Amino acid sequence: MLRFETAGESHGECLAATLTGLPAGIPVSSEYLDRQLWRRQQGYGRGGRMKIETDRVHIISGVRHSQTIGSPIAILIENKDWKNWSATLPVDSKDGETGKEKPVHRPRPGHADLAGAIKYNFPEARYVLERASARETTARVALGALAKTFLREFGIEVLSHVIRVGPVRLERAAEWEEIVALSERDEVLLGCVDAEAERRMKEAVDYAYRTGDTVGGVFEVVAHGVPAGLGSHIAWDTRLDGRLAQAIVSIQAVKGVEIGAAEEGSCSYGSAVQDTIHYDKPQREFHRGSNRAGGLEGGITNGQDILVRGFLKPISTLRRPLESVDLPTRDPALAAYERSDVAVVPAAGVIGEAMVALVLGQALLEKFGGDSLGETRRNYDGYIAQVKSY
Ligand SMILES: Cc1cc2nc3c(=O)[nH]c(=O)nc-3n(C[C@H](O)[C@H](O)[C@H](O)COP(=O)(O)O)c2cc1C
Repeated sequence: MLRFETAGESHGECLAATLTGLPAGIPVSSEYLDRQLWRRQQGYGRGGRMKIETDRVHIISGVRHSQTIGSPIAILIENKDWKNWSATLPVDSKDGETGKEKPVHRPRPGHADLAGAIKYNFPEARYVLERASARETTARVALGALAKTFLREFGIEVLSHVIRVGPVRLERAAEWEEIVALSERDEVLLGCVDAEAERRMKEAVDYAYRTGDTVGGVFEVVAHGVPAGLGSHIAWDTRLDGRLAQAIVSIQAVKGVEIGAAEEGSCSYGSAVQDTIHYDKPQREFHRGSNRAGGLEGGITNGQDILVRGFLKPISTLRRPLESVDLPTRDPALAAYERSDVAVVPAAGVIGEAMVALVLGQALLEKFGGDSLGETRRNYDGYIAQVKSY
């Protein structure tokens, strides 16, 4: 089974991640992984931190001669900002050395600051925010890129695009080819397939900049080429829709998830929502009249594109800080401000891709297994032949 874990703090020396369970023999390119890390760093509205960091993977195990070897893959990603923080957050305590700490005494509403400080019994929130920060998602994107590499061997591609920034939405459906072209761009504005909608999205971010505010939005992850039959209806925790929902909501600042046209469906009648079933006798193939279910029925993939949307709240750290409390005195105080992004929707989409790829990679291995890519492929091909002759 595919398992993954991340470690590392926002201003620590590096991020670390492990992925265990990928079969041997999958071609791996560090360049492709770095490209995904680059995509996570882009987007209009990012803060100063992204100018400091140029994220690169350092693979230390599990890949030899550009192929997986079946053993756990371990990755390190350096935090360039560490040199500015090594005196503030040293691993070993040097007796008597004080004065370099950067305590966070005025917890920021919408962050883990206060809840985390209370839970871990810290007098202030520095250690909490170091781990709660979305810097951690750099490690997820690196692992997700490995999962994407694996899925590609089976013709499955996972990409994302932005469909809303604040009040501005993309008012039309995006074609798969447009989403692919978007992912190949070397300049990322707001990750929207429609130039006019993207221009208005930029205006929404500019408004947030001007007013010391922040803005959220919605991204859509599309998984293309997924065979029917991943996930299962048989138990609550085998349903793939539930597993994808958890993966998406686990992303920092994502507060809602939608599979297919869930929101629109909830205020329509059933006859307008379900995807009709048709059969092409000469081709011996089922097909659907639409894809409002987002590629999942009964928690099982149905062969259509998987469509999962993540709803991001606006970034919590504000240049015009909200009311909070000073922890040492318990007096009213304005929340702390630490260098921050204003809008992160395209980056969150790239993280969403990583999470969807990891969940699909797990589901694919659950169904087809295999210690080597060849073994997984034989199992996969046998199943596809069975589906074709159904
Ligand atoms: C790509 C990305 C970048 C983020 N950057 C910031 C940031 O610069 N400042 C900030 O206050 N929150 C940022 N966030 C959101 C916080 O990490 C998140 O709101 C916080 O950890 C609390 O978690 P919650 O909102 O999920 O409850 C970012 C989120 C993502 C996905």
